[in-house]
Amino acid sequence: MSRFWSQRVRELDPYVPGEQPKIDGLIKLNTNESPYPPSPRVRDALDDSTIERLRLYPDPESVRLRDTLARYYDLSVAQTFVGNGSDEVLALAFMAFFQNERPLLFPDISYSFYPVYCQLFGIPFERVALTDDLSLNPEDYTRECGGIIFPNPNAPTGRALPLADIETILIAQPERVVVVDEAYVDFGADSAVALIDRYPNLLVIQTLSKSRALAGLRLGFALGSEALIEGLQRVKNSFNSYPVDRLAEAAAIASLEDDDYFKTCRDRVIATREHTAKALADLGFQIIPSSANFLFVRVPDGENAAELARELREARILVRHFAKPRIEDYLRISIGSDTDMQHLLKALTARRRD
Ligand SMILES: Cc1ncc(COP(=O)(O)O)c(C=O)c1O
Repeated sequence: MSRFWSQRVRELDPYVPGEQPKIDGLIKLNTNESPYPPSPRVRDALDDSTIERLRLYPDPESVRLRDTLARYYDLSVAQTFVGNGSDEVLALAFMAFFQNERPLLFPDISYSFYPVYCQLFGIPFERVALTDDLSLNPEDYTRECGGIIFPNPNAPTGRALPLADIETILIAQPERVVVVDEAYVDFGADSAVALIDRYPNLLVIQTLSKSRALAGLRLGFALGSEALIEGLQRVKNSFNSYPVDRLAEAAAIASLEDDDYFKTCRDRVIATREHTAKALADLGFQIIPSSANFLFVRVPDGENAAELARELREARILVRHFAKPRIEDYLRISIGSDTDMQHLLKALTARRRD
């Protein structure tokens, strides 16, 4: 605490990202990164001429990248927005659309950055309880509110919401913005991008951090009606007019243009997830069906999840435990390579024998 901090900064409870260890050789299953490298085309895109042009500011509107996204998702450029990671795009969306007197609604078990943005921007919010099996009930989001946000698939549960349920919410809230945070959508959920032309209140936010293996690049994007995108542009241009640098723009375009590589890596992650889920179930874990690149598992009866996470760390395997009500008995395990997951299963099996 410092006397120099403004009142709001004193009251903040900042987001704590998953550990990025400085030690080599750990198996990192704690922050939902890809076990595979980005498309080889990314390296080719970072050529001498791109580097030479780093002396110039980038295009503040990132039109080439937005044009690539528009073609990929069959939208117009005016329906696309890009930023420095989807965390930044989310922050701009909170500023642009949720600073209302009425509370923003989001699930009680969800991405823990949402309440942090609310604190930062002075946005009232209410956490809406997921059902007992950690599902989202769309009827809980049809009441009066200042806006709605949820991840689909949800994080950290991995559960996907069908598009019909998202439509129920969009129809009930024509005057409020509904943000669907699709950070993990490529691993098995239906994207709400298909609904954009019918619902001007829908904003879909995605990232290249997970399914495109570019977490280190920091590139996120939003897709929605022209009016919502213009709102985001207004906030961006009042905050940082060049959030996407030249290297990030070139690399992101190269990645989006390599669809075969993207699909191969995504399918491998899904296949690994499915057989890991079976193996964990055989070891007594309760598995929530996952449409993401992680599994949210309840530890076997008699086990303590925090303790198990600590023991795995000693075995050089990082997983994520959230010391929060309703989920303290769960671990979130990112899907690594087949070899990573074999190490995890071996460590868990060895413990059982001891
Ligand atoms: C639900 C959700 N949304 C957004 C993000 C942010 O991703 P990034 O800022 O890397 O695009 C994450 C990252 O873990 C996430 O879990």
